[in-house]
This record gives sequence, structure tokens and C-alpha cells, in this order.
Amino acid sequence: MGFRQATGRRIGTAPPFTMDTRRLFYVLVLFMAAMVVFMWTYTIQINITYTDNVKTSLLQSQNQFIRNQNVSIVNVSKVVDPPRSPKPSRRRRRRQSNSAPKEPQNIFPSPHTNASTNGTKPKYKRLSDEEDWNNLPDFAKSLPDNDPNFKFNWTGLIEFRDLLEREVRSSDLFVMTQRNTPVNSTVRYFVDKSRYVITDELNRKLPKESPFADKRFRNCSIVGSGGILSNSNCGKQIDSARFIIRFNVAPVMPEYRRDIGSRTSLVTCNGDRLREKWRKFRTDYNIHRFMGHLDQYDPDVYIWSQPFTSSTHTNALLQIHDILRIHNKTQRAIYNRPEHQGLARSFWRRQGVYEMNLTSGLLMVTTAIALCDEVYIYGFWPWLVDKNNSTIRYHYAHRGITGGLRNRWHHIDREFEKLTELHHKGLIKLVTGKCQDKE
Ligand SMILES: *[C@@H]1O[C@H](CO)[C@@H](O)[C@H](O)[C@H]1NC(C)=O
Ligand SMILES: *[C@@H]1O[C@H](CO)[C@@H](O)[C@H](O)[C@H]1NC(C)=O
Ligand SMILES: *[C@@H]1O[C@H](CO)[C@@H](O)[C@H](O)[C@H]1NC(C)=O
Ligand SMILES: *[C@@H]1O[C@H](CO)[C@@H](O)[C@H](O)[C@H]1NC(C)=O
Ligand SMILES: *[C@@H]1O[C@H](CO)[C@@H](O)[C@H](O)[C@H]1NC(C)=O
Ligand SMILES: *[C@@H]1O[C@H](CO)[C@@H](O)[C@H](O)[C@H]1NC(C)=O
Ligand SMILES: *[C@@H]1O[C@H](CO)[C@@H](O)[C@H](O)[C@H]1NC(C)=O
Ligand SMILES: *[C@@H]1O[C@H](CO)[C@@H](O)[C@H](O)[C@H]1NC(C)=O
Ligand SMILES: *[C@@H]1O[C@H](CO)[C@@H](O)[C@H](O)[C@H]1NC(C)=O
Ligand SMILES: *[C@@H]1O[C@H](CO)[C@@H](O)[C@H](O)[C@H]1NC(C)=O
Ligand SMILES: *[C@@H]1O[C@H](CO)[C@@H](O)[C@H](O)[C@H]1NC(C)=O
Repeated sequence: MGFRQATGRRIGTAPPFTMDTRRLFYVLVLFMAAMVVFMWTYTIQINITYTDNVKTSLLQSQNQFIRNQNVSIVNVSKVVDPPRSPKPSRRRRRRQSNSAPKEPQNIFPSPHTNASTNGTKPKYKRLSDEEDWNNLPDFAKSLPDNDPNFKFNWTGLIEFRDLLEREVRSSDLFVMTQRNTPVNSTVRYFVDKSRYVITDELNRKLPKESPFADKRFRNCSIVGSGGILSNSNCGKQIDSARFIIRFNVAPVMPEYRRDIGSRTSLVTCNGDRLREKWRKFRTDYNIHRFMGHLDQYDPDVYIWSQPFTSSTHTNALLQIHDILRIHNKTQRAIYNRPEHQGLARSFWRRQGVYEMNLTSGLLMVTTAIALCDEVYIYGFWPWLVDKNNSTIRYHYAHRGITGGLRNRWHHIDREFEKLTELHHKGLIKLVTGKCQDKE
């Protein structure tokens, strides 16, 4: 064949091979160099597999996958990413938050940057600021609007719920009760870790047992306040669920109801909002305005808040209970135990969602998975354009507010990426498109 002939000719025309000492020396040097390179790459390979194995087993012991190693919905290769091991980082964070609470926001590497950098840390790009559909990340673009073929994965859900219950303990910690918060016990503030001693007076404000202790709802709607809900026509579908969660006493006035529904089973209330809108109840006038605002919710709604996140809002939030009682309302104030936030944050960090502060949105999703068979999520969308490249508001009811996008404590786009992952696994259903009437 042509090829053989060619090589044969070349060998034939080459000078005869003689082995003088200089040539022998070159050959030996070349051989040794090859050996060195080979050994080097081999050791590196061993090193890599070794550290990966160690990390993986660390992770598994952290996640307490003791009963069944296959429980994890975690993509281990992703979780290994964060460069710090969790324990030193926790200690370090606490020390830092005591001395200087301000930390640079790009301290955590973005999950999207490649490892190959020229020695400088990659700057984290805030995806939320993108105003062009083209710039949205793939996990947003590929999310189906309202997938008719979506199915909940029951085996996956049972495992995931089990894991969450072990690690985040929502059924115990979501609500402070007389039993889990006895008189003279202490709770620690989430932010500065200082202690608060539970008085008899506070204990009497708490329910004996969690109102959700033995409950499981067939389906739940979690209704974020995103502008994506405007003109969504999702109100009926939202209202069809057994339990409906809303955030930060968002308005459910008639003009929004076609899109956001009208029923509310639980609504969160945060301290900053209390201060801005109702001046922390400094005057009777503010109290009456607050009562008026609550009238739009169902008479059996739970007003849920976190008085022990930071001490600045403790008194005002604990007052909600008294105000409702004095006005003979049937609506009830309930309070979150601060450990719940901490456990949830640690859990999601291990799943690759690095957050200084978990949003109440992700905390509610975590809780709802424990509380409901099927979790439907509406109004979560951390960008100012929708999938049709139309500009949308950050909040369906408030024009100017975009605070959450630039809040340096939160990375709601990373949280959202994790939610899309849960959606694709059939653990929750994310609704980001329009809803059709079924009949
Ligand atoms: C766990 O997964 C491995 C393979 O991924 C499989 O061989 C093993 O049987 C599984 N164990 C259980 C308890 O399902
Ligand atoms: C885990 O993540 C890697 C990289 O993102 C991906 O290639 C792989 O398919 C994922 N595995 C699972 C089981 O999701
Ligand atoms: C990261 O690496 C992948 C494949 O190696 C490449 O396609 C992609 O463009 C890189 N991304 C960045 C931001 O460099
Ligand atoms: C690192 O690489 C990026 C692009 O790859 C470049 O813009 C930057 O200037 C480089 N930094 C240094 C210190 O070389
Ligand atoms: C989206 O809208 C922006 C501004 O209106 C425009 O610049 C951009 O080209 C549009 N992108 C697409 C994919 O249509
Ligand atoms: C449901 O989840 C289980 C456990 O995570 C997994 O083994 C199974 O493949 C999933 N089923 C479907 C249809 O995705
Ligand atoms: C709480 O502590 C106070 C003072 O130390 C004591 O008088 C009271 O009996 C204690 N109450 C309970 C329920 O232990
Ligand atoms: C958590 O967020 C609140 C405001 O939303 C802020 O006041 C607090 O300092 C944050 N704490 C930490 C530890 O990030
Ligand atoms: C929730 O369950 C009820 C029945 O309990 C059903 O009528 C309703 O359509 C369900 N809602 C959703 C969004 O699946
Ligand atoms: C609440 O009810 C009590 C007794 O039923 C009554 O005396 C009081 O005036 C009521 N308060 C308000 C604000 O209606
Ligand atoms: C985008 O536009 C199409 C066609 O007008 C519509 O069916 C779809 O619901 C829109 N999606 C969103 C997220 O607005």
C-alpha cells in the first residue's frame, strides 16, 4: 500500500542507524524526562482522586446520609465547589460579624465562573441586573412556562422530605411554641448571637403546640411578590390550593386578585417593613392602619415573623400578638425559632446555594416541602425581563422597589437556580408563565 511504500522508502533512504555515545546519552536523557513527566501526572491523579474521595465522604457524613447513602439529591461534584470547609468558615464568620459586619459581596465564587483564571479572583456578576432576555442564564431560558407534562416524583419527595426533616427540623422549629420555648430558657439571635431569656409573659403569647403539628396539606401555593405575576391570570390556580403562603404582608386587594388570588393562610411580616410603613406601632394611628391592612386577609390567617433575627425589631414584632388580641381578631401571630434560619442556611449552603442570609422565600419553600404533598411556586423570578423580553416590575404592587435584586445579603438568582433544579427533579413545581382556566 502507498503508505507502507512511502515509509519504507524513507527508512531505506535514511543513513544506517549507528549508536555512538552522544546519541546514547540523548536517548537516555529523553527517556528519563519522559519518566519524570509520567510519574508527576500519575501522582497528581492520585492526589485528585484522594481529595475528592475525602471531600465526598466528609460531605456524606455532614449530610448524615447514614441510613441510606443514596438519599442524596445533591450533585456532589457541585457541592465540592466551595473552597472553604464549613466549620472554620462558621467560626470565622462569627468573628467577622462581631468586629466588622460589612463583608464584600463577591466573597463567594460564582457557580458559573470557570476555574481557569490567571491568579485573580473572578468578579461575581449579578445576573439579576440583566435587562435583556439574551443575557438570562440558561437555567432560566430553558424553564418551561407551564409544563403540562410536569409530574411530582413521589419517591424523590419522600426521600427529600426525610432529609430536610433531619437537617432543618421545620416541623419543630418553624413555630415557637410553649413546649419548645419554655420559661427561663434562652434563644440566640440569628445575627449577633446574643441571648434573650424567655419570660413568662412571652411564653404565654405562644401557642401550646404548633398549629401545623399533625397537618399535611394536599397542595400548597407559595406566592412570591414578583412582577412576573402581573397579568399572569394565576389567581384561580393559586386559590385552589389548600394552604397559601404570601410574603411580607403583600397586598391582596381586588385589583390584583385575578393574578395573585385572594386567599391567604399564612403571611410573613418583616421588621423593616413594620418600621417603614407602620412606624413600629408608635402611635394608635399606626396600629389602626396596620389592623386595616390585615383586614384584607382571611380571618384565620397566621401572621408569621422572625423576632429573633436581630434585636432591632423584637419588640415591635412581638407586639403583633397583643394588638390582634386587644382588637379581638381571630387572626394569629406566630413566631419563628431563630435556629430554623441557621439550619436552613447551612443546609442550602451544602447544596451549593451560598447566602449570607437566606431569603424568607427559600425558608418557606423548605418548610412547605415538609408541610405539603405538592408545592406550587408562583411569583419567583429574579430578573426585570420575562422570557418574552418584556420589562417587568420587581414587585407586582410596588413600582419603585427593586431592593431585593441588589441586597448584598441575598443572591436570589442563585436561590432561583436551585429551585429550577428542584423543579426538574419533580420536587416542586415552579410556575413562571401565564395560567389558563381549566374549565
Ligand atoms: C446505591 O447506588 C449504587 C450505585 O449507584 C447501587 O449499587 C446500590 O445498590 C444503591 N444502594 C441502595 C441501598 O439503593
Ligand atoms: C452533576 O453536575 C455535573 C456538572 O454540572 C454534570 O455534568 C452531571 O451530569 C451532574 N450529575 C447529576 C447526577 O446531576
Ligand atoms: C468555561 O468553560 C467552558 C468549557 O470549558 C466554555 O465553553 C465556557 O465558555 C467557559 N466560560 C467562561 C466564562 O470562560
Ligand atoms: C486575567 O485575564 C483576564 C481575561 O482572561 C484579563 O482581562 C485580565 O486583565 C487578566 N488579569 C491579569 C492580572 O493578568
Ligand atoms: C430585548 O430588549 C432589549 C431592550 O428592549 C433589546 O435591546 C434586546 O435586543 C432585546 N433582545 C431580544 C432577544 O429580543
Ligand atoms: C424520582 O426520584 C428517585 C429518587 O431520587 C429517582 O431514583 C427516580 O429516577 C426519579 N424518577 C423520575 C421519573 O424522575
Ligand atoms: C424562672 O426563673 C425565676 C427566677 O430565677 C424563678 O422565680 C421562676 O420560678 C422560674 N420559672 C420557671 C417556670 O422555672
Ligand atoms: C441579615 O439580613 C438583615 C436584613 O435583611 C440584616 O440586618 C442582617 O445584618 C443580615 N445578617 C447577616 C448575618 O447577614
Ligand atoms: C389542590 O387540591 C385540590 C383538591 O384537594 C384541587 O381541587 C386543586 O385543583 C389542587 N390545586 C392545584 C394547583 O393542583
Ligand atoms: C373585645 O371584646 C371585649 C369583650 O368581648 C370587649 O369588651 C372589647 O371592647 C372588645 N374590643 C374591641 C376593640 O372591640
Ligand atoms: C410570551 O408570549 C407568548 C405568546 O404571546 C405567550 O403565550 C406566553 O405566555 C408569554 N410568556 C410570558 C412569560 O409572558
